[in-house]
Amino acid sequence: MDNFTFYSPTFFAFGKDTENDAGKYVKRFGGSKVLIHYGGGSVVRSGLLDRVKKSLEVAGISFVELGGVKPNPRSGLVYEGIELCKKESVDFVLAVGGGSVIDSSKAIAAGTVYGGDFWDFYSGKRIEEALPIGTILTIAAAGSEGSPDSVITKEEGMFKRGASGDAIRPKFSILNPALTQTLPPYQTAAGITDILAHLHERYLTNTKDVEVTDRLIEGLMLTMIHEAPRVIADPNNYEARANIMWAGMMAHNNAVGVGRSQDWNSHNIEHELSALYDCAHGAGLAVTMPAVFKYVYKHDVMRFAKLATRVWGCQMDFDNPEATALAGIACLENFLKSIGMPLSFAELGAKEEDIPKLVDVLCNGDGRTGSISGFVTLDTKDCTEIYKMMVR
Ligand code: NZQ
Ligand code: ZN
Repeated sequence: MDNFTFYSPTFFAFGKDTENDAGKYVKRFGGSKVLIHYGGGSVVRSGLLDRVKKSLEVAGISFVELGGVKPNPRSGLVYEGIELCKKESVDFVLAVGGGSVIDSSKAIAAGTVYGGDFWDFYSGKRIEEALPIGTILTIAAAGSEGSPDSVITKEEGMFKRGASGDAIRPKFSILNPALTQTLPPYQTAAGITDILAHLHERYLTNTKDVEVTDRLIEGLMLTMIHEAPRVIADPNNYEARANIMWAGMMAHNNAVGVGRSQDWNSHNIEHELSALYDCAHGAGLAVTMPAVFKYVYKHDVMRFAKLATRVWGCQMDFDNPEATALAGIACLENFLKSIGMPLSFAELGAKEEDIPKLVDVLCNGDGRTGSISGFVTLDTKDCTEIYKMMVR
């Protein structure tokens, strides 16, 4: 196991009606003037926004609002939010929504206390300081409610890039699984796929002897495989939603990724798809992961075979471990298909003729120098082949 530090100070309130305590938690974590940030309207329609405002009023906390965050959140609204926070002397950012809303909130929180352009953080500068952030999560997916990360798309050039820093880990996150019951099935499935991707990106490691985190990841994967069909069959299944919601947090606050090298090639390859075609991140990952895994599995056949046997229940073929590894990847594909996810470029609305552009931005855009690295290093030729495998 590699040396590591792990700092995860987020306070979690989990369960039914917990959003009604939002005001209490803002106060507890030092907020007196809040920016409530939200998306395209689901929290207005569900009545959640009104409940949150009421909770702030009861706690005597004043607030301003900024809605309109789009999935794959854009830099334009972040600049608007930073201006608003400065003008109104906001001292706490409250995200009410999904990963996109939380990531936009994190960018605003960091940008408000920074003298330069907030995009510096999305070009490699680490975030050391930010306004405190709270979240009320409405979709189990990105894991941003517990992560030190934020992903924003710069409209100019459509670069989708991440920024990191413990300063943007939420001070508190409210997780009420019942709030996810209004999700359309496609978004539920996209969230499940993203959670599985966060687990795979950590499972694919070059670090030896990491049994504790291997076993934790496998447990979370098995939970997702068990709960996903139950929630797809019955969107109101609270218990299944609860298990998925907590698994989504566990998958990405890095408790199961410490002390080991990680992959993230699938995420980097996918980010270009959601940047260019504005598809759901999880749907893009459903198309990306099987292609990447089939391309790289020979780098460590036994790791893929272990995943196949321990998680998918495949029989180990000791004479032909490659067959076992590939059987596991096929199980993943079948699972993704069964929950309604796309598996090909066409289903995603992506175009083969765009591959050179996708590869160029992926490998050369925004400071990169011809390759991406993770479980294996992939150059422009590799990435071209991987995108071609998704055309099918
Ligand atoms: O905008 P509204 O109207 O709220 O609708 C949203 C949106 O259209 C809808 N939705 C959310 N909760 C709902 C609901 N509709 C009905 N009922 C509810 N309860 O779902 C749609 C998707 O929302 P979004 O926030 O975009 O989803 P998600 O949580 O999957 O976030 C995706 C973003 O997170 C980034 C992705 O790249 C993408 O930009 N990621 C962030 C990470 C992080 N910060 O740690 C890590 C991830 O790997 C990921 O890259
Ligand atoms: Zn993700």
